[in-house]
Amino acid sequence: MTTAPEWKPDVYARFARERRRPFDDLLARIGDIDPRIVVDLGCGDGSLTVELARRWPQARVIGIEPSPQMLAKARAHTDANVEWREQPAEDWRAGGDGPIDLLVTNAVLQWVPTHRELLLRWLEALAPGGVFAMQVPGNTAAPSHELMRQVAAEHPRRAELVPALSRARAAGGPEEYIEILTAAGLTVDAWETTYLHLLPAGEAEHPVLTWIRSTGLRPVEQTLSTDEFAAFTREYEARLRQAYPERPYGVALPFRRVFAIGRRAGGDAGTRPRVVGLDHVQVACAAGDEDAQRAFYVGLLGMTEIPKPSLLAARGGCWFAGGEAVIHVGVEAGFTPARKAHPCLLVPDLDTLADRLADAHLPVEWDTSIPGIRRFHTRDGSGNRVEIQQVD
Ligand SMILES: C[S@@+](CC[C@H](N)C(=O)[O-])C[C@H]1O[C@@H](n2cnc3c(N)ncnc32)[C@H](O)[C@@H]1O
Repeated sequence: MTTAPEWKPDVYARFARERRRPFDDLLARIGDIDPRIVVDLGCGDGSLTVELARRWPQARVIGIEPSPQMLAKARAHTDANVEWREQPAEDWRAGGDGPIDLLVTNAVLQWVPTHRELLLRWLEALAPGGVFAMQVPGNTAAPSHELMRQVAAEHPRRAELVPALSRARAAGGPEEYIEILTAAGLTVDAWETTYLHLLPAGEAEHPVLTWIRSTGLRPVEQTLSTDEFAAFTREYEARLRQAYPERPYGVALPFRRVFAIGRRAGGDAGTRPRVVGLDHVQVACAAGDEDAQRAFYVGLLGMTEIPKPSLLAARGGCWFAGGEAVIHVGVEAGFTPARKAHPCLLVPDLDTLADRLADAHLPVEWDTSIPGIRRFHTRDGSGNRVEIQQVD
């Protein structure tokens, strides 16, 4: 196991909007899936994990994160259903919760030097049709990192600083992830993007230093004493000011990021049968009952008769709609009224309807057996049971 640097969630959240953009771009390419198990590996403060839980509310979402500080923030998201676990990626037993339908890891693998080997194990745990989606920064050759390494290489404690910084150089380019993911049998979509973040100018601290304090500079801060670290950042900031000059519109920070999505063949993700609504309820009637049914559904309940398709119209019966409710009344030979099975219709004014049905000599049987729900049962034009419920 490798010890991750200590994280400061509040500093990390400073550029939340800019940091969120690659996550959104990654998710946009995942497409229409219907996952049962979603894992967010290195979930940080959980603010993006809860987005996963909101997008797939039916899924079991697990957020894994080794930093107690980050995880404390994550656990404060009580509005989404996520299982949080304090664990480094190196210790995670992929598949321990069952086959994974979606494994997301956003801006994490650069902190996991062994992730190439671990990936092979993790990808085996993908369900048929499962998706792996990753994003890593690809900016270690940028001046922001090059200058940090320069200052570290010139520093009296360079023997500790140089290896500490090399840990965060562990991520690869898109070609490397194409190799790994295709070798694992996945279909791959990999790309890179250089974002041009415009950071605010005119603050006491150079904004690129502020940005990198919460990520790339963490190993330096953890290695040096407070005074040493202050001296290091003074020197580093002076070089950053040269490399990233302030302009009237701000400071432009080009930031390259690497993305890869791998899909396992098979499965039923996105096509798994599931119910998404109710189209209509069919009730029966005897031949010739149509007018009595019209008197009930249109005359008393205020529904609208909708035309039957011509192929079905010849069979008799009639259809009614009100709000989202649709009732199909079909003619049945040997019909007997349904005494138990029934549709339940929602109305905004239960009492007025109850009076109207009573005036029409139809039964109104109030039922108080479900707390908080006002409802009664009546009979339609053919004597079928119908429930009427008050809607707020
Ligand atoms: C840049 S943050 C990204 C957090 C989150 N995925 C997001 O996109 O907001 C990097 C995260 O990786 C975590 N991390 C560092 N080393 C790790 C490891 N070995 N295993 C899992 N997570 C790790 C850090 O604790 C931190 O929360």
